[in-house]
Amino acid sequence: MDIELLQAQVGLWNLTYSYLKTMSLKCALDLGIPDAIFNNGQQMTLSQLHSVLLLPPSKKSHLYRLMRLLTHIGFFIEKNASACSEPVYGLTAQSLLVIEKNESANMLPYVRFCLLNKWLKSSLYISDWFLQDSKESPFELTNGCTLWEITSREPAVNKMFNDAMVSSSSLFNDYIVRHGDYIFKGIESLVDVGGGKGAMAEVIAKNFPHVRCTVLDLPHVVCDNPNDGIVKYVSGDMFSYVPPANAVFLKWILHDWSNENCIRILRRCKDAIPSREAGGKVIVLEAVVGLTSAMISEEPQLLFDMLMFMVCEGEERDENDWKYLFKEAGFTSYKIICTIGFSSIIEVYP
Ligand SMILES: C[S@@+](CC[C@H](N)C(=O)[O-])C[C@H]1O[C@@H](n2cnc3c(N)ncnc32)[C@H](O)[C@@H]1O
Repeated sequence: MDIELLQAQVGLWNLTYSYLKTMSLKCALDLGIPDAIFNNGQQMTLSQLHSVLLLPPSKKSHLYRLMRLLTHIGFFIEKNASACSEPVYGLTAQSLLVIEKNESANMLPYVRFCLLNKWLKSSLYISDWFLQDSKESPFELTNGCTLWEITSREPAVNKMFNDAMVSSSSLFNDYIVRHGDYIFKGIESLVDVGGGKGAMAEVIAKNFPHVRCTVLDLPHVVCDNPNDGIVKYVSGDMFSYVPPANAVFLKWILHDWSNENCIRILRRCKDAIPSREAGGKVIVLEAVVGLTSAMISEEPQLLFDMLMFMVCEGEERDENDWKYLFKEAGFTSYKIICTIGFSSIIEVYP
């Protein structure tokens, strides 16, 4: 066998079994391994870990094998590589992102939500979905309703989803604050459409006090948000009405929807803002496929795109796709302000 054939075979095995990386991550979170290591001063021997997790003696060697894979793929680090001593595990930048006590950048609620059985189940039926001429997403076909129907019906899923969205915003907050002087210059009012629990609006309101912030979202999302005077919450349907403001903020909204529905949402946003001369604009935070920060792979954009067609009618879009939507919705121009990891901030002008 020549080397190319061997490489192809290994590549194929790797692809075939990549799902075991995801499942090993899920297992580590379910067992509470990152928190256990964190709570022990960020390092732990295999025996300590085995004992803290209260696992049966028969599972110690399996725990070692789980940790070996997770260390190999960079989720944990092995601190002593000596062959004779017991492994000592530590955390990496990735595992630090899912520590319960990490308040500044905690992605745990997001990752937990994405690894719920409801999502994972849909991924098994993508090919069945392809064979049906149906408008329903694989998620709808396997769960019998849309994601938004589930969140409105099941308070526990609603809470998990909203917490997941708050945690997904945490890494963007810094960048918004850093670029805020430019983005929010001259803006007196802003409505965060589909702004969920208001995490982003709160950061904007606190750091740029000249901007009065409103969050528009569905009734079951905003119903118990605090009315603390920092952010105003309005319950409603963005397809019908967006409250008037100098600027509209849309983070991770348009990628949930088809082109047709994005154009409807964008038109409502355009109705809500003044002319460009009067400072009106829509601020979109989304992936622009093919555009990422230096050293950041494009692959997550493509994975998110698969996720979008698995769970809803949406998609991740490249710059031409965005250009088309903005034009069809009646906007005259746009500018990509900055790229944060695999997402970008785009200003869209009426
Ligand atoms: C992917 S989440 C993004 C949440 C938030 N912008 C963020 O990034 O953290 C989509 C949001 O759109 C809201 N949403 C869905 N349909 C809506 C509608 N018809 N009107 C208003 N909000 C809606 C959902 O409740 C959810 O909060």
